[in-house]
Amino acid sequence: MPAHLLPISRRGFLAASSASLATLGHTRLSGEESTANPDSWVLLSDTHLLSAASIQQHYAADKVARERRATVVSKNFDLAAVQVNAMREKPAGMILNGDCVHVGGADEYNQLARKFALFRETPIHVTMGNHDHRDDFFNAFRNQRNDAGVLLMKRHVSVLKSRHANFVLLDSLTMKTPNRPVKGPGLLGAEQLEWFESVLDAESDKPTIVVFHHNIDPSEDYQKRSGAQEIIVESAGQFNGLGGGVEDSDRLLDLLQTKPHVKAVVTGHMHQFRIFKWRQVHFISLPSVGYTFDVKEPVGWIQVQLQEDGAAFELRTLDTKHARHRTRVKLNWS
Ligand SMILES: [Fe+2]
Repeated sequence: MPAHLLPISRRGFLAASSASLATLGHTRLSGEESTANPDSWVLLSDTHLLSAASIQQHYAADKVARERRATVVSKNFDLAAVQVNAMREKPAGMILNGDCVHVGGADEYNQLARKFALFRETPIHVTMGNHDHRDDFFNAFRNQRNDAGVLLMKRHVSVLKSRHANFVLLDSLTMKTPNRPVKGPGLLGAEQLEWFESVLDAESDKPTIVVFHHNIDPSEDYQKRSGAQEIIVESAGQFNGLGGGVEDSDRLLDLLQTKPHVKAVVTGHMHQFRIFKWRQVHFISLPSVGYTFDVKEPVGWIQVQLQEDGAAFELRTLDTKHARHRTRVKLNWS
């Protein structure tokens, strides 16, 4: 089940609180229907919208602090939307890379739908994080649900095609503890990796950027065997990099080594902006929109400019006076 939301200008009859969900499967996103820059993409992650009902159910002992958090994440989402909408050139699309909400449930996903309506011109694509609830997400957007485009049962996966690169969106949510705010560590699973490999083989003519929520968590043994990584952009704060990530990272990394057209892996989960290169693959950890774990790390989002030979990643901090605002890094695929 892929998760795509059409821009509100094309939703027409739908109320702003009920965003359109189109199951487009393999989606061609060449920008032919709008004046958007087809090579420009916006990456958001970890918006963590939090409802009063969730606070009541899970954080009653911590109510005041959580209410403060709910206000902050809501304002941050609005600020990100203002910044994206103010871009001189409209992006071809936006990917929200998981932890869209903090607990799940109708209240939070209805809030997400209202927030999505702020992005009036931008197609939105969503992955699932460890705070999301897969079925609740789909129920909230059920008006436009269409299973004709199912690519993989019980997982939200997609392929987004564009001129210089394809995005493959994977689903690392496990739902091991569905009634808890955190629903488990990440797991891609054998079935999804098999599907992923078949997509990579079918789309090997173009660079691929893989997007999913949990960070890569290679085993110590794997790191010893695979050699040192090159840090390209260091986090402002301490990067607590290896815990709580994708449990089958080693299997994914083994697969990536056989698919040289995979040039980048984009993850969320760590709430920190960081880029490193391992062998020929760039790993981009997205900043969080909602909140950070470290005060030195800014909240913000990333604008990506796809190019023939690589991609430029630019950090947009919500505080535009932040020293790291507009930090721009060109990654070369060769
Ligand atoms: Fe998160």
